Amino acid sequence: MLSLVVLISGGGSNLRALLEAAEDAEFPARVVAVGADRDAEGFEHAERYGIPTFSVALSNFTDRESWGDALLEQVQLWNPDLVVLSGFMKLLPPRVVAALAPNLINTHPAYLPEFPGAHAVAEAVEAGVSKTGASVIVVDNGIDSGPIISQERIAILPGDTEATLHDRIKPVERRLLITAILDIANGDIDLKELA
Ligand code: GAR
Repeated sequence: MLSLVVLISGGGSNLRALLEAAEDAEFPARVVAVGADRDAEGFEHAERYGIPTFSVALSNFTDRESWGDALLEQVQLWNPDLVVLSGFMKLLPPRVVAALAPNLINTHPAYLPEFPGAHAVAEAVEAGVSKTGASVIVVDNGIDSGPIISQERIAILPGDTEATLHDRIKPVERRLLITAILDIANGDIDLKELA
């Protein structure tokens, strides 16, 4: 059974999907704690499942490195097999990545390497392209530049806004994330080989 710490920043709809999947006794992973860089709205999903939460805000630290060290300490308290960034909107300092990788994965609402960064969906709409996608990657020190675990194309429809497109991307992200966790747990994906 794979133990997961999930890091979020926002509403945590992907986290909720993961918690629902983990309700199935056959699902080979369990969320042991949920962390955030703020008092995230998505904590409510963890609380509903009785899963502990922790928040480490960058604004409480003088520099990113000490913030990262404090966040890492909280994560490591749970000794997770895998850390999942699920809408975590801060770049992790290199020391954190070095401590957790390759058992550190991220979901992203674009077909990487297209549209990396925090505004991937808006940028895809603005670019006027006909398709974007969703990706699950191993985290490295770049911005959404790590090895790709899985990804899928999603069409951009005439009249799509950031909100309508993101609503269609998220279910795909959830499916890719849950499948990736299954494959990692079953040994069908070896993160060490990918990284
Ligand atoms: C998701 O689409 C996730 O891929 C994206 O934030 C959303 C969070 O939604 N992450 C990034 O853009 C990271 N670069 P959620 O809080 O409802 O799960």
